Amino acid sequence: MSIRDSDVQRVREATDLVALIGRRVSLKRVGSRHVGLCPFHTEKTPSFSVNGAEGFYHCFGCKASGDAITFVRETEHLGFTEAVEQLAAAANIELAYDAPGAQHANRHRRKLMDLLELAARYYHERLMSSPDAGEARAYLRKRGYNRETVVKWRLGYAPPLWDALCQHLGAPVDLLRKAGLASAEQESDFFRDRVMFPICDAGGRVVSFSGRVLPRSGEPPPKVPKYKNTASTAVYDKSKVLYGLHLAKQAARKSERIVVCEGHTDVIGCDSAGISEAVATCGTALTKQHAELLSRSARRIVLAFDADAAGQTAAERVHQWEREFGLDIFVAVLPPGSDPGDLAASNPPALRRALDEAQPLHTFRAERILERAELDSPSGRDRAADDAAEVFAVYPPEILLDGDLRPIADRVPMDVEKFRERVDAARHRLDDRAAAERQRETARSYEAADHAYSDDWYDDAGYSDYPGGDYDDTGYPKDGPPYANDGSDPGSGSVETRTSRSQRRSARQRKPDARKQAETDLKLLAAAASPHSDVIGLMVPEMFATSAGREAFAQMTNDEGWRERAATAGRSSQTNSSGGDPEQDDPPDATVDPVAELLLDADVAGAHVSEEDAKDRVAMAMWHFVRATIDSVSAGGDIPRMELDPSLSADAQFEFRHQCLRWLREREPELLDLDKRIGAVQDVRDWLDSLSAPAPTG
Ligand code: UTP
Ligand code: MN
Repeated sequence: MSIRDSDVQRVREATDLVALIGRRVSLKRVGSRHVGLCPFHTEKTPSFSVNGAEGFYHCFGCKASGDAITFVRETEHLGFTEAVEQLAAAANIELAYDAPGAQHANRHRRKLMDLLELAARYYHERLMSSPDAGEARAYLRKRGYNRETVVKWRLGYAPPLWDALCQHLGAPVDLLRKAGLASAEQESDFFRDRVMFPICDAGGRVVSFSGRVLPRSGEPPPKVPKYKNTASTAVYDKSKVLYGLHLAKQAARKSERIVVCEGHTDVIGCDSAGISEAVATCGTALTKQHAELLSRSARRIVLAFDADAAGQTAAERVHQWEREFGLDIFVAVLPPGSDPGDLAASNPPALRRALDEAQPLHTFRAERILERAELDSPSGRDRAADDAAEVFAVYPPEILLDGDLRPIADRVPMDVEKFRERVDAARHRLDDRAAAERQRETARSYEAADHAYSDDWYDDAGYSDYPGGDYDDTGYPKDGPPYANDGSDPGSGSVETRTSRSQRRSARQRKPDARKQAETDLKLLAAAASPHSDVIGLMVPEMFATSAGREAFAQMTNDEGWRERAATAGRSSQTNSSGGDPEQDDPPDATVDPVAELLLDADVAGAHVSEEDAKDRVAMAMWHFVRATIDSVSAGGDIPRMELDPSLSADAQFEFRHQCLRWLREREPELLDLDKRIGAVQDVRDWLDSLSAPAPTG
């Protein structure tokens, strides 16, 4: 994220775009351009055009466009930094990073990864040829792993020696500990006498290991855990890594799904059975970060857990991520007592069938509810119908087909239309509950956060048409809506539904909490939307007051020098929020640096978080924050993710966000009114869609 701008430019220039793309797409020269079949959508006639001289590509079919960096990001599912790093490595360019700390952290990470890679080679070599690995080889053979499997997954063996790996690597033991390779207490190897599974990040680089004990016949089961895993390190966080993803994401392009298992052996088994789009969590439940990671590779996610774990999942928050990340989650029902690894070995067709016939998550969850319900009595059926209806209520009505509802309605039993009514009623209950919760949350954050907005921050942020200080006590400008006469009307479809100022005022007076909430939301949205990142500093208190906030900073700060600006802004925010005399400046180095805060938090919690990771998280947090804000304004999260086209100029992006803000301001009373909300949200949605290529206005 903080790679120096000039270096990013150098990487762009050094990359031969035609050659880069030509490795994936067969291109034909047409005049000064090259054309081929678009890698981003399925087509028979080429509409994908590459301009090598200018360094960009464009698809006239699906409108995908970008430069070498975008192309690597999209096709390899990498972040900006990773993509630039990959291209830089290919072009032999040494990158400089803006913040000196980041450069240092990055070197540190690279050092750890080098050690991990060498360790993987060492373990693999031992497994393949060392005499003391005979038992390990026999065990793997017995599991049905042939040489090809062992080589593909780079399986290894950690010898039953005290510090063989540490000796072999010869690095300082402290560094080996930081990589998770040496024991924390002794000067010994962390893994001893175990079959080793290297765990890779999405780019295929080794970041950690899991080591399995060898089952030894004739002995009582060892008191040691079956699997020993690398703990958190600067390069490994199990809540963000999925075993096998680097291979699965390639396969997912064809199969258009990803299978999520619980263990590495399940992934290897699936792969051997021809299901290469499988990944596994590494000794943890599926996290939100996993869900987001998966959403980059496929929309359809099939959970292939054993029955217990699947039941557990049904009760967890997994379903919320479906809508949050645009996933369709399915649950494969496996024969009792078997996991995908077992099934892959004993009955591959049964495994394939179970995966292909996986149930939608909502059906699976509703069925679990009915299983536990007392369907013998009318009151039991009534309660069961309501409970099952709540499962479906989180989905928008238009995507729920009778075919989705009928299996559940039949089991109650109940007429499918009646059941749909229950779902609608449940949706209203959920909406109301969510609205109440948001109001409480807003009230809390109002009290918790020392408000940092100065009266003229709108002006500072460039919102000259929202003059600061000119608002009446309802929060609206004294001279009427600021957008009334500016010649641009992003909500032209809404003229007849636009409410008058007095109507708004009374709506607001009826709902003081909602008004307060909307004001915060809009301010935060405006702050988030501003390209003037000194405003980011104003958000820091909010940012770190809520977990959504903490999760939200990166997308918006995905530009060079953000750190410095956030730090500077943090200064002004501290000044503002101190409540003291604004003239009385804080010492210039008193900064609120979100990254430093996060690192400090992590440190206090005893977690190892690298600076690069902290930045990533802060940036992510920003993005989620913006989305959460929009969701909140639209009451129920019905506004889709505002994906800004990265090829747009900064000005165009600003204009787009500015229009969003204006539009939300305008429709706010409707958005806050339960009866008008759905129409308004639909309008916003249509409008957002129509804006995918925003034209500059006024
Ligand atoms: P399982 O017990 O299902 O293991 O644990 P498995 O993958 O089927 O392995 P085999 O077939 O017995 O060799 C599932 C996952 O839970 C984590 C590991 O990530 C494992 O892959 N686990 C399990 C641990 O981290 N530690 C343990 O002691 C056991
Ligand atoms: Mn198993």
